[in-house]
Amino acid sequence: MSQPAEVARLILPTWAGEFDLRVFQGASGEVYLLFAYGEIGDGQDLLVRLHSACLTGDAFGSLRCDCGPQLRQAMRRIVAEGRGVLLYAAGHEGRGVGLVSKLKAYMLQDEGHDTVDANRRLGLPVDSRDYREAVQVLQAAGVRSSRLLTNNPAKASALDRDGVLVESLVSLPTSPHLRNRGYVQTKAQRLGHRSPGGEPLTGDGFPNGDGEALDATVLLGEVGPRAGRPYVVLKYAQTLDGRIATSAGDSKWISGTQERRVSHALRAACDAVMVGAGTVLADDPLLTVRMLPGASPIRVVVDSTLRVPADAQVFGPDAVTIVLTSERSDPGRRAALRQRGVKVEVVREAADGIDLADGLARLLSLGVRCALIEGGSRIITSALRERLADRLVVAVAPLLLGKGTDAVGDLGASAVRDGLRLRNQTVHQLGPDLVVAGDLDWSRG
Ligand SMILES: NC(=O)c1ccc[n+]([C@@H]2O[C@H](COP(=O)([O-])OP(=O)(O)OC[C@H]3O[C@@H](n4cnc5c(N)ncnc54)[C@H](OP(=O)(O)O)[C@@H]3O)[C@@H](O)[C@H]2O)c1
Repeated sequence: MSQPAEVARLILPTWAGEFDLRVFQGASGEVYLLFAYGEIGDGQDLLVRLHSACLTGDAFGSLRCDCGPQLRQAMRRIVAEGRGVLLYAAGHEGRGVGLVSKLKAYMLQDEGHDTVDANRRLGLPVDSRDYREAVQVLQAAGVRSSRLLTNNPAKASALDRDGVLVESLVSLPTSPHLRNRGYVQTKAQRLGHRSPGGEPLTGDGFPNGDGEALDATVLLGEVGPRAGRPYVVLKYAQTLDGRIATSAGDSKWISGTQERRVSHALRAACDAVMVGAGTVLADDPLLTVRMLPGASPIRVVVDSTLRVPADAQVFGPDAVTIVLTSERSDPGRRAALRQRGVKVEVVREAADGIDLADGLARLLSLGVRCALIEGGSRIITSALRERLADRLVVAVAPLLLGKGTDAVGDLGASAVRDGLRLRNQTVHQLGPDLVVAGDLDWSRG
């Protein structure tokens, strides 16, 4: 087998830092981008990522796979280590079947077939990647032994067999999104990948320790389509005496770090995270996923008069933001927000602000299928009063605040039996906090 030829070499500045990029072309015609960071030196014990190209995941942030977060995590790890190699195999798209076949397989997955069966139905191999040229490129760059950044033991065996010693596997789990959870599970169950979705939440929290990525999707329940709106989950953290903030509006932090990481895992699992204008004014939150690897959701702010200042962090460039507002808001302010790349949607008004049903219908029409409402009190109360939520996830911290902001306002219950109950509830211990999750039971009253 003839050696891949080096066809270009340059310094490539990236979001993660400057890499020495060497471009190789194999006898097969396939192109390999070798990103070296720091000194390769004797080539021993290098942190190595062999990344199969995934145009949809790597470049467009597709939520059907975990490729984009894996690529970015690998680059971060290599930079943090100060020495390592990312080999990007441009011809390995779709586990080697190519872009068009991968997209056709996605169409079959939409009909209910998993990633393995979809390929088979198209008469394609489940995995047709040949790692021999990639190994030749690694060897040409002086890589002798590696700590391989992968969840895929088969990739490690192939590298080992073809000549780059794999000393150990360093896993790259990503907190799953509802849209890639099935794919990630298939990779674990049918392709032998090691916990690609991170550590799953149990009643005891995360018994194997605080993994880098967490799978908290169990808290979301049976997510499915709803008539005219997304599936809606209400989530907040309260004290033992039912407060989500002090009377001065301070809520940082009611729950502990473990619980807040779970909140980020929930954001990473949903299409959108939504808050009212009051929360933005009080907390100036970013509403992104920062405490673990995972995709940030679309951020939604309900603000009927656009009173949230234009420099609020939620309008920053880290993720997409939609503002649901009413006809009462100033058209000039709407235009200024749009100018900043914020999507502004004018929906109907109601007594509490915007008409939440109309706002949620608008989100569904924009492709939001699961929305996580993270407070505050008014928006939570509106969603409950109008029966526009399916699931409740409440963290209860061992803390008393006395007077403060109630988690939930008046729901019109004069007798205990009128109260709203949860079904299918589960309880999870997260450090000092308890998390209770369940389906809202609208069957009575
Ligand atoms: N512990 C937690 O988990 C947690 C989470 C979030 C917030 N918080 C705390 O909660 C406090 C804020 O509570 P909040 O009740 O003021 O905030 P909020 O529910 O986030 O915002 C309420 C505002 O949203 C706007 N809105 C638009 N349409 C609405 C509708 N249909 N229903 C309800 N509101 C609508 C209204 O303002 P306009 O009329 O101007 O549109 C309303 O005043 C802060 O202290 C924050 O720190 C705690």
